[in-house]
Amino acid sequence: MSESMQGLKRSHRCTEVSAAQIGANVTVMGWVQKSRNKGGIIFVDLRDRSGILQIIFEESDCGAESFAKAEKLRSEFVIAVTGRVEARSGSENKDVVNKNLATGAIEVRAKSLRILSESETPPFPIEEKSKTKEELRLKYRYLDLRRPDIQRNLMLRSQIAILTRQFLAEEGFLEIETPTLIKSTPEGARDYLVPSRVHPGSFYALPQSPQIFKQLLMCSGYDRYFQLARCYRDEDLRADRQPEFTQIDMELSFVDVDDVLDVNERLLARLFRELLGVEIPQPIPRMTWQEAMDRFGSDKPDLRFGMELRDVSDVVRDCEFAVFKGALENKGTVRGINAKGQGTMARKKIDALVEFAKGYGAKGLAYVAIQPDNTRKSSFAKFMTEEQMDRLVTAMEGEAGDLLLFAADQNKVVWDVLGNLRLELARQQELLKKDDYRFLWVTEFPLLEYSKEQERFVAMHHPFTMPMEEDWHLIDKDPGAVRAKAYDIVLNGTELGGGSVRIHQNDIQSKMFEVLGFTPKQAQEQFGFLLTAFQYGVPPHAGLAYGFDRLAMLMSGCDNIREVIAFPKVKDASCLMCEAPAAVDEKQLEELGIKVSEGSQGQGRE
Ligand code: AMO
Ligand code: AMP
Repeated sequence: MSESMQGLKRSHRCTEVSAAQIGANVTVMGWVQKSRNKGGIIFVDLRDRSGILQIIFEESDCGAESFAKAEKLRSEFVIAVTGRVEARSGSENKDVVNKNLATGAIEVRAKSLRILSESETPPFPIEEKSKTKEELRLKYRYLDLRRPDIQRNLMLRSQIAILTRQFLAEEGFLEIETPTLIKSTPEGARDYLVPSRVHPGSFYALPQSPQIFKQLLMCSGYDRYFQLARCYRDEDLRADRQPEFTQIDMELSFVDVDDVLDVNERLLARLFRELLGVEIPQPIPRMTWQEAMDRFGSDKPDLRFGMELRDVSDVVRDCEFAVFKGALENKGTVRGINAKGQGTMARKKIDALVEFAKGYGAKGLAYVAIQPDNTRKSSFAKFMTEEQMDRLVTAMEGEAGDLLLFAADQNKVVWDVLGNLRLELARQQELLKKDDYRFLWVTEFPLLEYSKEQERFVAMHHPFTMPMEEDWHLIDKDPGAVRAKAYDIVLNGTELGGGSVRIHQNDIQSKMFEVLGFTPKQAQEQFGFLLTAFQYGVPPHAGLAYGFDRLAMLMSGCDNIREVIAFPKVKDASCLMCEAPAAVDEKQLEELGIKVSEGSQGQGRE
């Protein structure tokens, strides 16, 4: 039996009711969290998105009809209650005050009850810090979304969006939408394609970002643009990646690097101050890409702890250890990290670290474990003289009780291995405090990186990124050495956002396409409209985009981006609730002129 709302009006959300209303009548509505029948008296915890409020039913207050209804209440029934606010019965007696609830000192004595909707027993309890498997929660996401922790995340996410809009509007930005049925933008990931019915055999791409459109808006004079833009990338999912996600995307005209960084530092300061009460040091520190790689083995260093990498190539150059020698002869390096106080780590745990390192492409991991009595256990001491070992330990500032770990290989491998090992050790030692927010700008990224698979240079950020003027002369001789006016904003080891100054000169852009292996014809086919637009007066411009989901994830202290997205997808890019993607009608395919190859219709789906 579901009753209607007729003649009823909600006066407060659950936790908007406070001691200030004692004696007054209120009407509250929400879900039954819990109902306890103690004979002549029924206690109900009523829940809405604001929190929980205790309701008391006694027949003498609410009458026989409402009391009979109250006796039927079960979890997740939706009800409306009108009643009087009271101090919890015998409030002088401290025990009845629930300090865990915002409304713990009061309760509502019901005068009437309506059951607006009944509920089946939910497949899992609707509670904070759920122990239910995520798969089940995602299948019934609409129930999962009732849980207070997820509701808090989505409310914070909403506040971030609103405050961002407000801040950017105050700074003179215009919110402009760009299309989501477009021609593919070359951002590196695979595109999601949408077939066209009107043009059989032709496809739209869903945007990986609004990059080209926002640059065109600069050409059109809208000098400061922003958008909370949906983006789509068909790439392997991880904890901080979704196939569709949202960017806080912006672009500015007549600016250089410093202008973009400045406005974004103020935006971040505002968000963290107003929403978390956290002061971010201004300006946010900057580090070049080269320094980040050398010191942390990562272009998104986590600055919450030290354990920096050290290049010991010169120190070990004359030793006989084949592993070190071989790497140096192959133009590689030998680098190490010092895990302070870990010298007595069990052999088994060290072996596990070696396996961890191998997962990042290391051929092995050499170590020196300095014991508390200053003796050393090492996997390669026999290949070194005592004096060489002393020098190595000194170079690593090794002291009694320290564990020194070394990787020898090509730079890229060494960085990746030690950068990840550093993080793993920090996790093991619990050095990563969630409420310690360390921001960093990483600047001067390489313009290009060599792709072994494609046997050519590819853009590290995207093909529209401006090279640093002082390096441009190297573009033919040594393309890999040219740095870009590109920057990333990094928070606690996560790349929160990235951007760059754009090329606005046709000659530089043409040269870039040439280096990237586009013939002039191909460049014209793919980006003709942008190149043509640039012939009609284009202002110097630059921009940046945040991963909005990542920002919300870090601000709400979550480890997974799914916790801040209302209806997320899982690892294989499917939605467990609505079961997308799914096979479609033969007729739909026919209209689109599409034939699915034998046996692959709905493949991989149950
Ligand atoms: P970029 O590709 O670096 O730059 O993307 C910007 C930010 O978007 C977030 N992000 C993602 N978040 C969730 N799931 C994903 N699959 C995903 N991919 C990226 C990251 C990233 O830092 N057009 C440029 C920006 C510019 O130059 O202005 C761009 O898209 O937090
Ligand atoms: P091996 O001579 O292969 O038994 O290696 C001796 C030690 O060096 C072992 O502890 C290996 O894990 C380690 N090792 C092997 N390859 C590398 C490498 N590329 N970098 C660092 N240590 C390595």
